[in-house]
Amino acid sequence: MKLPRNFYKPLAIGAPAPCRELPVRLERMIHFVPPHIEKLRAKVRELTGQVDVVLGNLEDAIPADCKEEARRGFIEMARESDFGSTGLWVRINALNSPWVLDDLLEIVEAVGYKLDVVMIPKVEGPWDIHYLDQLLAQLEARYGLRKPIFIHAILETPEGVNNVERIATASPRMHGMSLGPADLAASRAMKTTRVGGGHPEYKVLADATPDGGPRTAFQQDLWHYTLARMVDACAAAGIKAFYGPFGDFSDPEACEAQFRNAFLLGCAGAWSLHPSQIDIAKRVFSPDPAEVKLAHKILDAMPDGTGAVMIDGKMQDDATWKQAKVVHDLARLVAA
Ligand code: GLV
Ligand code: MG
Repeated sequence: MKLPRNFYKPLAIGAPAPCRELPVRLERMIHFVPPHIEKLRAKVRELTGQVDVVLGNLEDAIPADCKEEARRGFIEMARESDFGSTGLWVRINALNSPWVLDDLLEIVEAVGYKLDVVMIPKVEGPWDIHYLDQLLAQLEARYGLRKPIFIHAILETPEGVNNVERIATASPRMHGMSLGPADLAASRAMKTTRVGGGHPEYKVLADATPDGGPRTAFQQDLWHYTLARMVDACAAAGIKAFYGPFGDFSDPEACEAQFRNAFLLGCAGAWSLHPSQIDIAKRVFSPDPAEVKLAHKILDAMPDGTGAVMIDGKMQDDATWKQAKVVHDLARLVAA
């Protein structure tokens, strides 16, 4: 991994530098809460323990005239709830917006000690991460915060996709990255009007049959290229990859399919924008019991992780041992 340009700055002369290790924790769903709506904010207490991460959303989907209220609501929500093992994140407004500076100044001052991750939207290159990294370092030093605040980038512009590897390694504060299919679609001029998911017209046709009968159409995954590229960039940098939002709440089956593709490809979780998506994410991003059973068979059959064995007619070797270890480690984390 390339040496990041900005190292974390210790708090003050003589002060111990905070640990910069990414905590190992389950983050199967990043549950979005619009903090300007009192009724939904009040529900956060019920969510604690039910979701892996609660995120106060200040950016898109929050009307311009509610931005201050959302920021205040987030601070109130963060102060009043004990999050226990549930992570507390905030999605700030874009760096070129009139709100972002106050988002960071007010939130870090008031509840920086409770905040795990700042999600930054519309990241275009490592320069965006460097800016946020420095600002967070200044605020942590000013308020004497011992626990570093991590950064999570949303990949949702073509320029961001071009720079994805540089974004992933831009700072030791990087926690991970999420695919933002809605903004990405808009900025790429894709001809869709949806938040994530597939499109019935994005398909390939099976070859024509000799009798000229109807041809089968196979719908393709609009997001495969970007998601796979992002997963590689994140894995190479040692940070986590996430699928972002799925906007059609009336189609849990399609949501589950999209989440499952992301899980199989290497993602740690996805966003839940609606309570119905919490259980979908929990189910999908936890390993399947049959897979866990097979993983244990492989680990038991190769105690030192080397060589080759046959299990149920299939060859297993050092590489499948490592795959089994991924499943085993996740199962342990889920069970903990
Ligand atoms: C998320 O922010 C998206 O644009 O999909
Ligand atoms: Mg977006």
